[in-house]
Amino acid sequence: MATTDTLGSSVGLGDEALPVGFPMPRRPELLHASTPRLRVRTVEHRFPFPLPNGWFAIARVGEILPGEIKALHYFGQDLVAFAGEDGLVHLAEAYCPHLGAHLAVGGKVEGDCIRCPFHGWKFDGTSGACTEIPYATTERIPSRAAVRTFPMVERNGLVFAWHHLDGGAPFYEVPDVAEFGSADWQPMIMSDFVIATSCQEMAENNHDFAHFKYVHGTDEIPDGEEHIDGTYKRVSNPNLERETFGLGLGVVRVPNVLTFLSSVTPIDEDNVHIRWIFTAPTSLGAGVLEKIAESFTLGVTQDVPIWENKVFRPRPILTKGESGIIAHRNWCAQFYSTPVELPDQ
Ligand code: FES
Ligand SMILES: [Fe+2]
Repeated sequence: MATTDTLGSSVGLGDEALPVGFPMPRRPELLHASTPRLRVRTVEHRFPFPLPNGWFAIARVGEILPGEIKALHYFGQDLVAFAGEDGLVHLAEAYCPHLGAHLAVGGKVEGDCIRCPFHGWKFDGTSGACTEIPYATTERIPSRAAVRTFPMVERNGLVFAWHHLDGGAPFYEVPDVAEFGSADWQPMIMSDFVIATSCQEMAENNHDFAHFKYVHGTDEIPDGEEHIDGTYKRVSNPNLERETFGLGLGVVRVPNVLTFLSSVTPIDEDNVHIRWIFTAPTSLGAGVLEKIAESFTLGVTQDVPIWENKVFRPRPILTKGESGIIAHRNWCAQFYSTPVELPDQ
């Protein structure tokens, strides 16, 4: 359906070729940043929940070298990431508390600190405290002269930052996935892409068993056992197990074939940055891992046009077998600083 602007003409909609489903087409080019995405939705601000609290990947290990600085945008804000001379990656809000310069634009790493390009104030990468005002005439540096920093951890080839809307401390851990870094498993391969959706919506897919048949073309609707324990969640059947650690990390295992890590980082309330890391047993030989990774990656291109054009139904009409979706939504609530209204079901 087309919408009408004030001049009475049709705006934008209806000119794009719509995909034909059952199943949805697999389109590898959708994952390249330069490919325009189908957008017939005009609804903005689709999700009633805030940015989630949790561990979220902000870079690959080795992506930011000692002394390097990167401007990033995650968690709905401008950020600066830098690796200290010891190689540890720090993440801080981008803007200097003095007069607001962007620390990534001309800033300089010194030890494990970053020096602002505007007037040379120096900030500690871990605490965020200002440790030096080079031209100050007083000894005392006010405690308010600090940038907000994020707790950091490196695991499974990724650098994770702890994001909490109210500045709260970490309340769960990023697991060590044994397969990554094991001699019995192949060197990891990674793909990454951006999708207009939220962490909660993307993860809801794992509890939506019917869509596997209609979107992905499986012969039958699969089922799965669902298990929830605090911030941890698992969905499994004999062919596949998916463990979830908060809203930023999933570990998928297809026994003896593949282990794959799915990291989802909120860019803002409506967009996420996905990083997928794959490994397979060395006994499978060369070339197999690439093929399996490609098939998983192609699968998500079937979801993308649906995710990017759907809305969130706060009170969905569900069949009996779909109660896992409500359990998932209730589980997600613990990662939000403000309560989300959920249906009375
Ligand atoms: S704005 Fe950063 S030191 Fe002045
Ligand atoms: Fe899917």
